[in-house]
Amino acid sequence: MAVRAKIVGTGSSLPSRVVTNKDLEIMVDTSDEWIRTRTGICERRIAGEGENNSLFAAEAGRRALEMAGVDAADLDLILVATMTPDMVMPSVACLVQDALGAGRAGAMDLMATCSGFIYGLSVAERFVRCDPSMKVLVIGSEVLSRRVNWEDRSTCVLFGDGAGAALVIGEEGDRGILSSHLHSDGSLWELLTVKGCGTRFPVSHDNLEQGLQFIQMQGREVFKHAVKALESVALEALESNGLNMGDVDLLIAHQANMRILDFLRQRMGLEQDKVFINIDKYGNTSAASIAIALDEANRQGRLSPGMNVLMVAFGGGFTWGSMLVRW
Ligand code: ACO
Repeated sequence: MAVRAKIVGTGSSLPSRVVTNKDLEIMVDTSDEWIRTRTGICERRIAGEGENNSLFAAEAGRRALEMAGVDAADLDLILVATMTPDMVMPSVACLVQDALGAGRAGAMDLMATCSGFIYGLSVAERFVRCDPSMKVLVIGSEVLSRRVNWEDRSTCVLFGDGAGAALVIGEEGDRGILSSHLHSDGSLWELLTVKGCGTRFPVSHDNLEQGLQFIQMQGREVFKHAVKALESVALEALESNGLNMGDVDLLIAHQANMRILDFLRQRMGLEQDKVFINIDKYGNTSAASIAIALDEANRQGRLSPGMNVLMVAFGGGFTWGSMLVRW
């Protein structure tokens, strides 16, 4: 029987500080009504002072290991998908390796913006299929609140902080990851950026003055590309497995905008209860978004053995991708 990569544990960790739309009304010229109707977001979690990406990443990872009953010392690889690492160097993955005491694990970060967790799971799946004895911890973790211009109402209302994780191991059987498809289009990179503080636009008075360290997004354009890419990658996943829309038991899509999720649900002809939603509580947490949602669905008992779980993501770059899992 074939060996499949299987998700055997999930975890998540969120800052305790809740920032509501009403709180944002005090900070910028916006309203609870605008944010709810345009995005579906009611509140988001924001990291407090001294709370860094690696703190949430490690805690999410610990919870995934605990659920699976696997010791951190037995991990072979830690992958952290993030665009908001604690530092340029070392990686968040190395800080997580230390925090968990994962003595023999390799560790690296992976940057594919909001698609990062799908990219990470996809890499883990390839490792595990090559060597079924491997145990790979995949984490999506972000502290986007420190890359947001809190004076820019067009972006600051959208994002939140947090982390989610999944432990991937090899197991014989027909359950596990059925397929993954990854895509990108770098020609559209300028529609969604954090230009500053890399090496092209290094830290300088001028660059900081221009706000290049902050997320900048041409929202309407990104929206158009996101809905098209998400629908096409969902179809691609189903077609490559000989399945159709009616075979999807749960859709977990990147939580970027409730209108995007509604559009996707309607195009796929899915009932409301087949689409997982938590954007109202957390906003857009980029690479952490699907990871947190997967863990919540799991802990709420919404995933049962044999279910077809379709995950689809889209983000800056652009990057997009899908993962179909028989749970
Ligand atoms: N409060 C009140 N008014 C606002 C706010 C706000 N927070 N933000 C913008 N507005 C105003 C604008 O100024 C504009 O006013 P105008 O018509 O007088 O010029 C009006 O609202 C409409 O602005 P739009 O940007 O056109 O609003 P839209 O309906 O497109 O919603 C949004 C904006 C929510 C950003 C939407 O475009 C979106 O969700 N885009 C996709 C986001 C996404 O999928 N990102 C991908 C992943 S993210 C990542 O990779 C990090």
